Amino acid sequence: MEGRVSMSKAELYDRLLEQARRLLAGEHDPVANAANLAAVLFHGLPDLNWAGFYFLRGDELVLGPFQGKPACMRIALGKGVCGTAARERKTVVVSDVHQFPGHIPCDEASRSEIVAPLVRDGQLLGVMDLDSPILKRFDADDQRGLEAIAAVFCEHSGPLRA
Ligand code: SME
Repeated sequence: MEGRVSMSKAELYDRLLEQARRLLAGEHDPVANAANLAAVLFHGLPDLNWAGFYFLRGDELVLGPFQGKPACMRIALGKGVCGTAARERKTVVVSDVHQFPGHIPCDEASRSEIVAPLVRDGQLLGVMDLDSPILKRFDADDQRGLEAIAAVFCEHSGPLRA
């Protein structure tokens, strides 16, 4: 897309954040919101092979809406990049997934990954996960951008029902 070439990563995230706010305005269903955000991220950010959600169900993460290849469906808290971000309630940026102990491979093309926790009113709702086929794809701009989008999700989405 013309114009995107010269756009900084921060500007790109500003646009995606605006798009996320518009899409989620007035909608509180977490699955609908996560589905649209997965599409916004997957199609809006360059060099991704997976973008999606895991929701906390009991004491494990269960696969939610995503774009990309089929992925593992359940991840225990503390396991893999997702389970680590969930347990620590902190964004985890992995430059090289092969160097991350316990990384859970879903798409063998993945080389780097970023996972942001979804926390609302002190409650862990799940995580947002982006994978890239490129080493060191994610940096502090991605972290800020993804955390801002995660905050929009948490602000707009009601509880997940069984
Ligand atoms: N790699 C993740 C698993 C989820 S997929 O990348 C979609 C992990 O280590 O938690």
